[in-house]
Amino acid sequence: MQSTIRKKVLQALFESDQEFLSGQALADIAGCSRTAIWKHIEELRKEGFVLEAVRKKGYRIIETPDSVTESKIRLGLQTRTLGTMIHYEESVLSTQRIAHTLASDGAEEGTLVIADEQTAGRGRLMREWHSSKGTGIWMSLILKPHLPPQKAPQFTLIAAVAVVQAIEEVTGLHPQIKWPNDILINGKKVTGILTELQAESDKINSIIIGIGMNVNQTKDHFPDEIQKIATSLSIEEGRTLSRSVIVQRLLERIEALYSLYMKEGFTPIKLLWESYAISIGKKIRARTINGTIEGRALGITDEGVLKIEDSGGTIHQIYSADIEV
Ligand code: BTN
Repeated sequence: MQSTIRKKVLQALFESDQEFLSGQALADIAGCSRTAIWKHIEELRKEGFVLEAVRKKGYRIIETPDSVTESKIRLGLQTRTLGTMIHYEESVLSTQRIAHTLASDGAEEGTLVIADEQTAGRGRLMREWHSSKGTGIWMSLILKPHLPPQKAPQFTLIAAVAVVQAIEEVTGLHPQIKWPNDILINGKKVTGILTELQAESDKINSIIIGIGMNVNQTKDHFPDEIQKIATSLSIEEGRTLSRSVIVQRLLERIEALYSLYMKEGFTPIKLLWESYAISIGKKIRARTINGTIEGRALGITDEGVLKIEDSGGTIHQIYSADIEV
């Protein structure tokens, strides 16, 4: 995790908006020596920041990298609690595993685990999740709501709404949600959400929301077998996007929706979710472990369970399934 000095140095350079800041000014702001400042500047360079240094003038930022390092995410992040702690790793097996360990060790609410690459990323039903280096957002967020465990599935829906809103804010795209956890653009999956729980019988200890978002992949980044069903924001939008900006907007949206949910309950979230859902009112097929149900998707219950009405008028409640629209 980043030192307070690094945070202060970066923030000051960022806020100086291309103006030079002297080593002494930075040392005063960060409360350290000029030698310490020089070391932090070197560390930032290693992270990919291009920093100009001019004698008698000082330092200024010329370019920031397209990375999802702690420094990059922190700059311009407007949240109160989410992302207060950020664990960035260049390459991990799965951010979800790390988040589970941190949560067991008492990580605080809002802790974010994020990586540039996952070598064993996983999705729902233990499926593989492709997480190629430097192309997407592979993150796990720890929340600690004082709620019973039955409420946990609602957090997948909160996250799904937040993902749609963040993508809409940063791009001109209008994603849709396919129950329970797929975000689609033009019928192809751009984001998956995996919500996992550490709980006792009557209370949640931690919810770990894993989000995998395809951002700057080209078609060739995807293995052949998923090229037909997966897409990235860049493929759909026709330009490269800043991953750190999307993470910032996403954390802000999750924070706002989480706070709305804790104040007003699930109803406002449910309305938003249904307004973005692809399948409501349409004929769908749900493949569950107990067989396939076909019918019209009516909506979701307060528990986030999908309701389908079959041709005989029977209403089925679907807890877990693969949906075909
Ligand atoms: C799905 O659609 O099945 C859910 C995919 C979730 C992928 C994310 S990427 C970050 C986090 N780490 C993982 O290993 N999985 C989740």
